[in-house]
Amino acid sequence: SDRIMLGPLVGAIDQGTSSTRFLVFNAKTAELLSHHQVEIKQKFPKEGWVEQDPKQILQSVYECMERTCEKLSQLGIDISNIKAIGVCNQRETTVVWDKITGEPLYNAIVWLDLRTQSTVERLINRTPGKNKNHLKHKTGLPISTYFSAVKLRWLMDNVDEVRSAVHSGRAMFGTIDSWLIWSLTGAKNGGVHCTDVTNASRTMLFNVHTLDWDPELCQFFDIPMEILPKVRSSSEIYGLIKSGSLTGVPISGCLGDQSAALVGQMCFKDGQAKNTSLRPSFMLIAMGSTLPRAYIAFQCYSDPFCPLYTRYGTGCFLLYNTGQKPVMSEHGLLTTVAYKLGRDKPACYALEGSVAIAGAVICWLKDNLGIIQSPEEVEKLAASVGTSYGCYFVPAFSGLYAPYWEPSARGIICGLTQFTNRSHIAFAALEAVCFQTREILDAMNKDSGIPLKQLQVDGGMTNNKLLMQLQADILCIPVVKPSMPETTALGAAMAAGAAEGVRVWSLEPEDLTAVTCERFEPQINPEGKESEFRYARWKKAVAKSMNWET
Ligand code: G3P
Repeated sequence: SDRIMLGPLVGAIDQGTSSTRFLVFNAKTAELLSHHQVEIKQKFPKEGWVEQDPKQILQSVYECMERTCEKLSQLGIDISNIKAIGVCNQRETTVVWDKITGEPLYNAIVWLDLRTQSTVERLINRTPGKNKNHLKHKTGLPISTYFSAVKLRWLMDNVDEVRSAVHSGRAMFGTIDSWLIWSLTGAKNGGVHCTDVTNASRTMLFNVHTLDWDPELCQFFDIPMEILPKVRSSSEIYGLIKSGSLTGVPISGCLGDQSAALVGQMCFKDGQAKNTSLRPSFMLIAMGSTLPRAYIAFQCYSDPFCPLYTRYGTGCFLLYNTGQKPVMSEHGLLTTVAYKLGRDKPACYALEGSVAIAGAVICWLKDNLGIIQSPEEVEKLAASVGTSYGCYFVPAFSGLYAPYWEPSARGIICGLTQFTNRSHIAFAALEAVCFQTREILDAMNKDSGIPLKQLQVDGGMTNNKLLMQLQADILCIPVVKPSMPETTALGAAMAAGAAEGVRVWSLEPEDLTAVTCERFEPQINPEGKESEFRYARWKKAVAKSMNWET
């Protein structure tokens, strides 16, 4: 027959805030063979509220899996070669469903949602010294609207169906990974209710030291522990797919999307090697599930001397691998579980700088202002002027995350004149992504004590060359983009393929091949005075976004 023999393949479900995708990789070469993507709608029922339909999310996953299988068949590739499936997902987004009917009891409350602002204030006021970092020693996180526990608290306080399902023992809570794994492995007919350590570490109910749900934290938020999923490692067989073309294939990898990107970039080395001081080793920032990505089929092995990796998505997240030790930040960063690649493997931790709005600001220019028709257009528009002409845009749509953690901040565009036009605003929006990255990089430098020498990036927004150049100019260090941009899905596939009982993917360093990178050198004046000037102005704009009401 004309079937192509490829050896084992591994699939990855990448369920992001803006889209769902299914990608299939060759386990031997890490080559991406086929994929399918479906956009996911966000609902904004009230100012500051962000919801998604859990059933639509699930349906999009099935659709992506089926369409990818069709595409593989058209290529002459036998889908029975798919030996495992990994899940990576938008983190923190909260779902509660009825385990008897299988129905969600409310829309998913998306991580960006701000409805819990007063719940957060109330909780902080209850702590000694009204300290938002009161739970940080256990969770690694400040009390914030960002994390799942407050969203779950809100659901239990405000939605009758949720409250009564909790009381009658029918409720199940989960982040998107749990909702998907439970649904895909059989739902009400024996679905597996679990999560992995990386997703659990974003709930505020999880103790990053004991690697389990913490009774005291659950008590603080008044959450019954029976509704929580079982916490598992990021790489083990959780269950088998129960319907569709991939019936019988094990789901054996699960990671929050930023963690998955860290794994996909092979950022396995910690920043603390040998020394007692925190030395930068690997970090990650990611951009742009909102934008199309180029697919180049190479395995990517990070330069072990490149300390920083950044993923630019709907938001923008910088991760720093601190190895087997959770390090608590003194400069507004989060401590999170990076991965635990097997039941008997140790957990590795990361410091994370989270920015809520990156790729999403481009969508806002398109959907809310209508000044571009497609996200790609922003590059041309901004390049047509090459400057914001003194205009600064702080997209604090969901308050400000790292390093400020200020939920009451709101977006502002300032420095407007009669001369300002949409091109300048587009430029300012791109610059905002770069300035926000600079702020978390500065925090990371302060925590690590050693300035980082270059920034490694990935995500759809990294296809925007103007943005990459601007980022290098504003950071005054080179920005390096690996030729394999699909690191998030790749990381989930690797975790799934390497799991015990699957073992079709080797994570041994000698099996990982190096690839070429594109480099963007800083081009504005070498002393960086111009970028310092612009950065100082940006900080003034940020201060205004936090005090605009007073
Ligand atoms: O913490 C939220 C994050 O996981 C969302 O990622 O890629 O959808 O922006 P992304």
